[in-house]
Amino acid sequence: MSRKKAQKAQKIYLYALNFFVLFVPFCGHVKADDGSRLWLRYDQLPSRRVGSIAVQGQSATFDVIRRELLGAGIVVGNSDDASVVIGLPQTSTLIHKLGWEAELKNLGPEGFRIRTIRNVIVIASTTDIGTLYGTFHFLRLLQTEQPIDRLQIDQTPRLKLRLLNHWDNLDGSIERGYAGKSLWMGVDDNRRLLDYARANASIGINGSVVNNVNANSEFLTAKYLKKFAAIADVFRPFGIRVYLSPRFSAPIELGKLPTADPLDPAVIEWWKQKVDEIYKLIPDFGGFLVKANSEGQPGPRTYNRTHADGANMLAAALAPHQGIVMWRAFVYDMKPGYDRAGAAYENLQPFDGKFAPNVLLQVKNGPIDFQPREPFHPLFGAMPRTPVMPELQITQEYLGFDNHFVFLASMWREFLDSDTYAHGRGSTVAKVVDGELYRQRLTGIAGVANTGSDTNWTGYDLLQANWYAFGRLAWDPQLSSEQIATEWTKMTLTHDARAVTTIVRLMLESYEAVVNYMTPLGLHHLFWGGHHYGPAPWWDMEKRDDWNPVYYHKADAFGIGFDRTKTGSDTVSQYHLPQRFSDLQQCPEKFLLWFHHVPWNYKMKSGRTLWDEMALHYQSGVDWVRSTRATWATLSGVIDPERHAAISKKLAIQERDAVWWRDACLLYFQTFAKQPLPRGVEPPAKTLSEYKERALEW
Ligand code: GCU
Repeated sequence: MSRKKAQKAQKIYLYALNFFVLFVPFCGHVKADDGSRLWLRYDQLPSRRVGSIAVQGQSATFDVIRRELLGAGIVVGNSDDASVVIGLPQTSTLIHKLGWEAELKNLGPEGFRIRTIRNVIVIASTTDIGTLYGTFHFLRLLQTEQPIDRLQIDQTPRLKLRLLNHWDNLDGSIERGYAGKSLWMGVDDNRRLLDYARANASIGINGSVVNNVNANSEFLTAKYLKKFAAIADVFRPFGIRVYLSPRFSAPIELGKLPTADPLDPAVIEWWKQKVDEIYKLIPDFGGFLVKANSEGQPGPRTYNRTHADGANMLAAALAPHQGIVMWRAFVYDMKPGYDRAGAAYENLQPFDGKFAPNVLLQVKNGPIDFQPREPFHPLFGAMPRTPVMPELQITQEYLGFDNHFVFLASMWREFLDSDTYAHGRGSTVAKVVDGELYRQRLTGIAGVANTGSDTNWTGYDLLQANWYAFGRLAWDPQLSSEQIATEWTKMTLTHDARAVTTIVRLMLESYEAVVNYMTPLGLHHLFWGGHHYGPAPWWDMEKRDDWNPVYYHKADAFGIGFDRTKTGSDTVSQYHLPQRFSDLQQCPEKFLLWFHHVPWNYKMKSGRTLWDEMALHYQSGVDWVRSTRATWATLSGVIDPERHAAISKKLAIQERDAVWWRDACLLYFQTFAKQPLPRGVEPPAKTLSEYKERALEW
């Protein structure tokens, strides 16, 4: 075909594509807003602001870009006289002429540049994926109504690995998942995966660990590997790699070997073969996430080998393929008199510098387990020769499942801004994690996903914001919660200025409010055993002490709280500058009962006693939910009725639960404090024995 003919054919193809994408979806089934579009809602897009966009490049990723723009109602072509040009120096004459090669290279393979050059906006990168990220960034500017006439944007993600961890089981259930079933286990239809991939790419997430860390060996059989290869094919154009959680004992279960000892030559060979088999099917496979010697999972300690032995053996099998190992630090063997908060540090810190270069240590944000509020994990800032990546929990195992509205960016901001003091003041967790402090080559962050098969993905429309926030913070751990909340609200809910201000305010207040009615002042793990939904501070029947709330709050006639100072477990000494927590005068009150056992009449900064202060915190959490319900009711005109009503229902549940939390906790602690509720705290709705009788239902 001559060049002219080819151009003509392409034009016709693009017109046809424009027609189908723009008009066909609107013929017949315009849906009310069911939340399924997440923040990728383009119907509010002020489309006249952009003329046509030229997408100059040919690949599956460029096709993704075209489809996204068309879906946004934008006219897509490929001529240089468009008002926006997207491409690479080698695929776009215009971009080539700009002579940006060196600068684009400096932005790295996922970075992009967006510039207004006279009256053309140019979106450029050195890779297809970079242009996809640039396109989504540009769409976000449109969706959030930013000025686009003088764009001067250079962006590079601060972290290399930005992963979702899916705790999906073989049967399609999701451990700690509250939004339906798995998006892929037990499902053979890939359609929803495309939207999952779009959503992730739009916020820069570049990897998914597709199975539960409590792993089953079957995930490594040919049947499942083929399935994951098909998923990887769907994800690839979106820049998302597939990772797996292998079971450490798989050489025994699948290979019929007598041992899984990481130093045994037959075991080493088995893993090498298995990894080679994976890469044959998935050439860009990301690597392994491993839960070993933790909560019943097998691991190297089973064979008297070390965590480093285990991680490095897997790393050696992956290294020739550029794969990585994320070794979890969630390890806490029960010992007499021990403090679980210090266990991971004790187990793993001695191995700093002993891991292979393609191993990262994946550490939960706090030292216990995704509690509503924890101080940062002491391993951050204690492993200068090991890449340490945080694991955050987006799914709300300890935060009211899919029923409580809590915007987690605030929690993660608090964590990332925590000062480790590893190299003096200002050595924040964010700087440890992004490699600024220790210059690690490998950097990353993981979030345990809150997604599932529910139409609105997360079981509760407002909790989509936490998926969004995770991705945005993974891209740039310095972003403010307010910016993220504002973006998300405008993209997802409304452009009404008054409503945006109100919703953003509620989002930013929500975290503190939930901590107040669940675990104020450093209390932790007061949850009903097993499911972790409602309160059960009296709980003492788990087989391990450290699975029982009474182990954590230690309430008695004297007072309450876990003494982690020298007079107690002394795990506070795992922190640099421990006196900021161990000295009662310096310890922030939000962590008071995390580090100290203090008397009920302890004088707080407000001048009130600890008991009164605690009771008022519980009450203020309840008050917040009530006023939020009232505020939400005033927004009925500016949010579509379907989502407005669904959110109202959830807020009613949250109010019921907040009251339950306040009453159950205060009534129980009152049996030790032996003091009346202070003025301003409502009398409990039920008796303590009623609260003990049955769990709060979700
Ligand atoms: C928590 C959670 C478990 C999970 C574990 C982990 O303990 O309750 O379901 O397996 O964390 O992170 O490994």
